Amino acid sequence: MILSFENIYFDYEGHSILNGINFVMDSGELLYMIGASGSGKTTVLKLIYMDLLPKSGIVAVGEFNSQFMKEKYVPMLRRKLGIIFQDFRLLNDRTIEENLSFVLHSVTAPKKEIKRKIFNALSLVGLSHRRNSYPYQLSGGEQQRVVIARAIINDPILILADEPTGNLDPDTSAQIMEILKDINARGTAVLIATHNYEIVKNNPARTLKLQEEKLYTVSLVTS
Ligand SMILES: Nc1ncnc2c1ncn2[C@@H]1O[C@H](COP(=O)(O)OP(=O)(O)OP(=O)(O)O)[C@@H](O)[C@H]1O
Ligand SMILES: [Mg+2]
Repeated sequence: MILSFENIYFDYEGHSILNGINFVMDSGELLYMIGASGSGKTTVLKLIYMDLLPKSGIVAVGEFNSQFMKEKYVPMLRRKLGIIFQDFRLLNDRTIEENLSFVLHSVTAPKKEIKRKIFNALSLVGLSHRRNSYPYQLSGGEQQRVVIARAIINDPILILADEPTGNLDPDTSAQIMEILKDINARGTAVLIATHNYEIVKNNPARTLKLQEEKLYTVSLVTS
């Protein structure tokens, strides 16, 4: 088990978002979290990378536990996670290569080793030839792939993908899913938050649905 939510309650200034939710995720698992816009998917991810803490209940990620979380542990937790943000968060004044080296924590590693890691991550998403480009010179799908490369570069135990196919056409979405499935097949757990039911239907895996502050297991997605 890599992740667990135990009786989680969460609200934003008294406005309840999660009303006692429970789930676990196995290491190496591919898991979907679906739900309408505003149902709380991003909030769940923020609870996992402990940008937010629950009002009550326990979030456990690897050896980290929300009850005992301190500010100084947060970077250690983040190092174990690969986060694919809904809004990309690429640095526009840096090249793709610089965006990736920016998050590499091996500051003491030799330059050659850093270059190799960046090249490998970019190769996996098919973008090693664009390493000297700037984010604004790339298409939305290409930027999404850079964000995936950035998420995997530190060999995370868990990837959190927030709407990884948002704003992408069906072919590009399918391509992104192939990359995420490939990463998963190499042993990394991947949690995908999405309202793109098409990708869930086309790439079946255990699926949880957020609805009216609760979390349900969905056996078959029909719409
Ligand atoms: N910082 C905040 N302060 C107050 N309310 C917030 C905050 N962030 C999110 N919310 C509200 O909490 C609810 C859940 O938001 P969240 O971003 O988790 O939804 P989501 O399922 O990720 O939606 P989407 O599919 O549009 O990304 C929404 O009603 C949103 O308006
Ligand atoms: Mg969201």
